[in-house]
Amino acid sequence: NWTMSEFIGQEIKRIRDLVGPQGQVLGAVSGGVDSTVAAKLMTEAIGDRFHAVLVDNGCMRLNECALVKKVLQDQLGINLTVVDASEEFLAGLKGESDPEKKRKFIGGKFIDVFEAEAKKIEAQNNGKVEFFLQGTLYPDVIESISFKGPSQTIKTHHNVGGIAERLMAGHGLKLIEPLRELFKDEVRELGRQMNISAELVGRHPFPGPGLAIRVLGEVTKEKVEMARKADNIFISMIREAGLYDDIGQAYAALDPSRAVGVMGDKRVYANIILLRAISTRDFMTATPYPFSYEFLTKVSTRIVNEVDGVCRVCYDFTSKPPGTIEME
Ligand code: XMP
Repeated sequence: NWTMSEFIGQEIKRIRDLVGPQGQVLGAVSGGVDSTVAAKLMTEAIGDRFHAVLVDNGCMRLNECALVKKVLQDQLGINLTVVDASEEFLAGLKGESDPEKKRKFIGGKFIDVFEAEAKKIEAQNNGKVEFFLQGTLYPDVIESISFKGPSQTIKTHHNVGGIAERLMAGHGLKLIEPLRELFKDEVRELGRQMNISAELVGRHPFPGPGLAIRVLGEVTKEKVEMARKADNIFISMIREAGLYDDIGQAYAALDPSRAVGVMGDKRVYANIILLRAISTRDFMTATPYPFSYEFLTKVSTRIVNEVDGVCRVCYDFTSKPPGTIEME
């Protein structure tokens, strides 16, 4: 694709000019398409002066940190540090069930971790970390503008108006957003051009706060574990059925309300798993993915049988709007 290779060349040049010959850049990565493509672009431009940080917030999916480390560090040659802050995140989320407060706490904690990392890098390199990379896309920019009415924000998105702005204010970091004018399909094309694997390029988006916004209400380690196991079953069955690439985004969430069921010969009173999967072009509008009843029934049976503490599974049929893609 001629336009994309042109874009890569121009962007690398722009980054080099902006950062200069000594500048150090910090960037958060999640293993998702956007942050990986942005990180790869930075690595092509300035090598190990780009420092990628993956924060384990205790709300990642099954085996996710190990997998991201393998791909970004070993396969893509990105200078990566994994920071395990899971206990701190889970401790801070204790007792908090308000979605916006959960998001704000997580955002704030991420900032603490990044500030500490910036200081470490500066101590090692004797040079200031001046820039912070963000894999913000065009729809993120649009949504954070259009979602802000005169007095309300629908959701505190971590990409825009959140972490970066506060890092900029508190630490004097300037922002680099190489993907700011691109749509998701263009970012995927960019990834392919930079030899990022088809599997990673095709990965569904995953929100910064992770499973914390897919465990409705208060987050505990046990609830995250239930959502994580159910999600892994759902996604692996989607992959086995060959449906993954046809779906925009899919996940399992945990509803902490309980329902009565009968398992074996015992009455149980246990949690509910909500399955969400959507078709979308740009993640600004979406419709529920039309699975067959047979498929959904199989997923439900496996989740109830294999995930302790769960006795029911529901499928979310809400479009966006009025629903959002995430539950919180
Ligand atoms: P909603 O729920 O607003 O989500 O319809 C639209 C898209 O954005 C993702 N999302 C996030 N991504 N940090 C992110 O990096 C966040 O805080 C966040 N919240 C939602 C969501 O997964 C969907 O793809």
